[in-house]
Amino acid sequence: MSDITVLGLEGTAWNLSAAIVDEKDVIAETTATYMPASGGIHPREAAQHHANHIARVIRETLKKGGRDIDAVAFSQGPGLGPCLRTVATAARALALSLAIPLIGVNHCIAHIEVGRWKTSASDPVTLYVSGANSQVLAYRAGRYRVFGETLDIGIGNALDKFARSVGLPHPGGPKVEELAKQAARYIPIPYVVKGMDFSFSGLTTAAQESVKKNSLPDVCHSFQETAFAMLVEVTERAVAHTGKNEVLLAGGVGANARLREMLGFMCQDRGIEFYVPEKRFMGDNGAMIAYLGLLMYRAGYSTAISDSGVNPNYRPDDVEVVWL
Ligand code: ATP
Ligand code: FE2
Repeated sequence: MSDITVLGLEGTAWNLSAAIVDEKDVIAETTATYMPASGGIHPREAAQHHANHIARVIRETLKKGGRDIDAVAFSQGPGLGPCLRTVATAARALALSLAIPLIGVNHCIAHIEVGRWKTSASDPVTLYVSGANSQVLAYRAGRYRVFGETLDIGIGNALDKFARSVGLPHPGGPKVEELAKQAARYIPIPYVVKGMDFSFSGLTTAAQESVKKNSLPDVCHSFQETAFAMLVEVTERAVAHTGKNEVLLAGGVGANARLREMLGFMCQDRGIEFYVPEKRFMGDNGAMIAYLGLLMYRAGYSTAISDSGVNPNYRPDDVEVVWL
């Protein structure tokens, strides 16, 4: 049995994280989270945060890991350009100094692969819902295809933006979830599914307006019910279209109990399995980058320094899946 060990670096947005994994488990992980003084994320400030902490985060992870690593993996995209570049620079320097392969990975696919690793899902339709991203993905003919996605902002950013506008602190998603539990009624909010894609920005504006006339808990509840129903509808249609019999939830918004419940009902109705990884593997984490790096390394893949530039719009279906 081989014992490949890979160090992964994640830093597409708020979270800077390094982790070492082998084929069985996470050996070590260190995280440093950027917190803006006010408002939303400032890409250059976040990148500066990552630059300030990355040496320590790598050093601590290597120390905790206490073993040699075979390759260095990093998030090549999608994400915020300045953050991606900071982390990529560190990854190149580390791989060159240790004289080991460098592996650029797609962040969205890393969410799927860590879910497959840490649950019993084998070939799922994945609903990936985070701050910046909202996508429905499934494997077909050598690639993870995007069956549906947001036409504007991610569901997490929509929740955060709405929450900020009503004076709730960041991150807004968990606050909205708590307030929604006190709701008395549902208020209609625009439900926008176009083909297989969804849009959250009109819904967010409508919710902001609605707070002027309705109670905050009622609006939080209505926001969640509407937005989550859109996500579940598209996920269900992807299931029907692909004939797959598993759904996997990924991304930080996957922490939401109501979203899980709604997806769970849909899966139960269709008689298919629903998988939710442990919380630490749902939001952005270094382990998922290290693990996808491990799969790619095992398949003989590596990224030349000349091809290691970042891609803020890196799409999962750009990647040829060489490891399955
Ligand atoms: P990415 O770079 O992949 O877009 P991210 O930096 O936004 O990721 P994640 O940890 O995947 O990071 O997700 C964070 C988002 O999850 C935030 O928008 C936050 O409000 C949302 N979130 C966290 N917990 C909950 C919850 N219980 N309900 C709804 N949203 C939640
Ligand atoms: Fe993510």
